[in-house]
Amino acid sequence: MAGEVNVPKAELHCHIEGAAMPALVQKIAKREGIDVSAIIDARGQYVWSDFTTFLAAYDLASSVFRRPGDYAQLSETYFRMLAAEGAIYGEIFISPDHATAAGLSYKAYVEGLAAGIERAKAETGIEGRMIAIGVRHFGTAAVERVAREVIANPHPLVTGFGLAGDEREGHPANFAKAFRMAGEAGLGLTAHAGEFGGPESIMAALDFLRVRRIGHGVRAIENKALVERLAEERIVLEVCPGSNVALGVYPVLRFHPVNLLRRAGVRVTLNSDDPPFFHTTLGREYAQVSRTFGWTDEDQRAVTRTAIEAAFCDRGTKERLL
Ligand code: ADE
Ligand code: ZN
Repeated sequence: MAGEVNVPKAELHCHIEGAAMPALVQKIAKREGIDVSAIIDARGQYVWSDFTTFLAAYDLASSVFRRPGDYAQLSETYFRMLAAEGAIYGEIFISPDHATAAGLSYKAYVEGLAAGIERAKAETGIEGRMIAIGVRHFGTAAVERVAREVIANPHPLVTGFGLAGDEREGHPANFAKAFRMAGEAGLGLTAHAGEFGGPESIMAALDFLRVRRIGHGVRAIENKALVERLAEERIVLEVCPGSNVALGVYPVLRFHPVNLLRRAGVRVTLNSDDPPFFHTTLGREYAQVSRTFGWTDEDQRAVTRTAIEAAFCDRGTKERLL
C-alpha cells in the first residue's frame, strides 16, 4: 500500500545505493560479469540476516554501478518513484567511497547522480539534493578524505555532509575534524546515531560533530533528559521506522518510539533509509506509521513541513515548497 498520495511528503534520509531495486542491480551485474546471487535470491529479493550482513549486501549491490549513466538511471528511477508517491522533496545520501571502489571519480559519480535528479525534476517537479557521507567503519582518514573531496569539488546539488556505516565502530570525536571542515564550507551536517548505539551516541554526535540533524536518533527515548534536550534545541530526527523494525531495533512498529518522541516535542521526519532492502517506500512509511499511531493527514503534513524546514536547501526552495 503506497499511502495517501495527496499528502505531500519529503524525505531526508535515503542511501541512494540502498535504494537500488534488485532487478536493476542484477541487470547491471550481468553486464559487468559480477555474481550477485549471494545477495539476491531466486524471487528477486535482497538476502541478509542482520546489520553486519545487511552492510555487506549493500556493499556488493553498490559495487555493480560503474558508469555515470548507471548512477543517473539509479537517481532518476528513485526520484520518479518518490514523486509518484506524492513526494515534493528528497535528499539522498551518496557514498563517494563506494563509487571510488567501483572505479569512478567523485566528479563523475556526482554528475551522473545529478543528471538523474534533473531528469526526474523536469518530468515531475520533485526537488532533490545530495548529502555526501563518510563511512565510519572505513576510519577517520577515509571520512576526512570524503570531506576534502566534497569541499574541493563543489556542486550545487551536493548540500550536505554526513556520517553513516557501522555505528558500533569509531567514536564521533574521531570525525570532529571532518565535520568542522564540512561545516565551515557551508554544508549541512547530519550523522547516524542512536540506531544501534544508545542515547550516549546521540549526545556524542551533538557535542562532537555539532549536527542539528540526527540519522535515526530513536534510542534517545531511553533517556528522558536527552529527549528534553532534543526538543529544546529543536534537533530534527531522520526517523526510519521500517528500517528499524527490519533490522530488529524494535520487534514491531507498534513498539517503535516515533510517536512518543513526537508527543514529547521532538521534531521527527519519516524516511525509508534503504527501501528495497527493508521492503518499504516513503509512502509506506507515512501510511504505516499513520495507521499504527492514528496520525491524521494534518499530522503527516506537519511532519513534511518539519522535513522541509530542516532540509539542506536554499531558503527560496524551502519557501516555494512550504
Ligand atoms: N548505510 C546504509 N544504510 C545504513 C544504515 N541503516 N545505518 C548505517 N549505515 C548505513
Ligand atoms: Zn541510514
